[in-house]
Amino acid sequence: MSTPELQERPRESWGSKAGVILAVAGSAVGLGNFLRFPGTAVNNGGGAFMIPYIISFLVLGIPIVWCEWTMGRLGGRYGQNNGPGILYAIWRKAPAKGIGAFTIMVPVVVYMYYVLLEALCLHYSIAYFSGAFDAHISSAVEGLTRGTAAYSDAVAKASAAYASKQFAIDANGGMYSGNMLWYVLACFLINFVIIYRGVTRGIETFCKFAMPLLIGCAVIILIRVLTLDNIGSGLGFMWNPKWELLWNPEVWLRAAGQIFFSLSVGFGLILCYSSYLKPSDDVVLTSLSASSANEFCEVVLGGMIVVPTAFLFLGSTHTPESTFQVGFFTVPAIMHLMPVAGNFLGGMWFGLLFLAAVTSSLSMLQPAIAFLEDGFGLPRRMSVTLLAIMTAVGASLVMYFSVNAQALDFTDFACEFMMIVAGLAQVLIFGWVIGAERGVREANRGSDFKLPRFMPFVVRYITPTFLIVVLGMWCFYNAPGRLRDMSPDFKGIEAALLIEAPNQFEGDALVTKVRELQATPSAARPDWLTAPTKKVAKEIEGARLNANIARFSIVGVGLLFIIITAAIDIACRNRIGRTIEAAERAGVSLGD
Ligand code: ALA
Repeated sequence: MSTPELQERPRESWGSKAGVILAVAGSAVGLGNFLRFPGTAVNNGGGAFMIPYIISFLVLGIPIVWCEWTMGRLGGRYGQNNGPGILYAIWRKAPAKGIGAFTIMVPVVVYMYYVLLEALCLHYSIAYFSGAFDAHISSAVEGLTRGTAAYSDAVAKASAAYASKQFAIDANGGMYSGNMLWYVLACFLINFVIIYRGVTRGIETFCKFAMPLLIGCAVIILIRVLTLDNIGSGLGFMWNPKWELLWNPEVWLRAAGQIFFSLSVGFGLILCYSSYLKPSDDVVLTSLSASSANEFCEVVLGGMIVVPTAFLFLGSTHTPESTFQVGFFTVPAIMHLMPVAGNFLGGMWFGLLFLAAVTSSLSMLQPAIAFLEDGFGLPRRMSVTLLAIMTAVGASLVMYFSVNAQALDFTDFACEFMMIVAGLAQVLIFGWVIGAERGVREANRGSDFKLPRFMPFVVRYITPTFLIVVLGMWCFYNAPGRLRDMSPDFKGIEAALLIEAPNQFEGDALVTKVRELQATPSAARPDWLTAPTKKVAKEIEGARLNANIARFSIVGVGLLFIIITAAIDIACRNRIGRTIEAAERAGVSLGD
């Protein structure tokens, strides 16, 4: 590879095998493991959830992880560390640029809201260690006796109120007031300083220290939880299988979604990280080790701490529903209620979550940095500054539209869709463009053990079929509700109806009734819609605002996609294209 194009910038590579495993595991292990998994499992069948979860891990997770690692390492040989360049090197066709856009877009957009949760973890850790959180709860439980149901209830309420205040769920733009802004700025600074230091000196060094530390902290907390009196009942509650839920397609959808989010597949992160491997480095065992570390953190550490303890201290009525509720309503309450060293364990828990979030955030930033460097030849300082500005604008918008966490929720929803599409596209490129047999031979190059013989069949047929079914189910179950959430008219009428006719309509009946009212001419509409009371009018206004924020979020994501695709097109026609051609002239190919 002796062309000027390839010699311009010394290529970075991972320093050691342990380093790359910890960096990739760091990318995968995050809030998804400790907060998203427990809530999702307990609400989708408990022990029974593990069946679709394990099937998704084996049929989707592992094969896609292997495909991404192999394609990433291959792309590195073409001088590409960015998803679009890697995919374009493999498939020199226009759709590769669009698919490549997902691999930049998903991590950057996820980062824009993920960093806010990271800031919240940092905030809570400090609030626990400094005693500020304890002081807040203590004033709420004054006069109540510890150990009674009234005390626990008061703690749960005070904890929820504290989180809502920090996250300003009640007010648009509220996150700019108070301390949150400073925590967000601190997180930006930490993440971008590490990224600026580069793959080996920054990401690898940080993950080598952060991963063992955070796993060690989680193990200590787990030991404390497992030695609580009567913890068996909590574990029974979490893992008691509700077999009948296995017939519910949504449970399967949740399991597949959790595998995607948790292993960070379809994000483009693995493509980017694995492109820093040397051509003869193993991908098969290394990726399996990183994925197994992720599963250990998710199922053992994530699955045995939060929900069993919540059941023990707060009872089944406080079963958390969303990731946000698990993390910031329930956990702070249970750490406070934990006998002996609760505050210390709380500080440690949020400290470990913060570290887990940083290691994941780094992997969300690196793909875009690599694209700016490979695609436009920007020096590190400029690419880091540019990305910091872009993500700061995005995060500011999510912070500004903080009411009901609506902007956060909708960008998350858009990313979930893009992740599944990108995962499907990548597995199709591996199976049908590179060719499954050739791809598997490429994966086996330098590997510590060989992929099983049935892998080509799995990658070509089983995984894509499973993914198409998941995508179809996703569109069928999630998309209609989300589209309704973006209609100010629908949401306004629904909000009014829920006040005027409480408990009368639910699910499909509610949708039908709102549609009926939408179709009714204004003159024939009920008075509570045409001349609502002040209270109802306020609810209608709030619901319409939520719908507009949802629209705005989706349009914003769409525009960003167009801009990124255009930038990829320019880069592929110029610098990326030239680098790939130079690599080919130097003898690099897709393999034998
Ligand atoms: N895989 C990362 C997490 O689980 C994004 O948080």
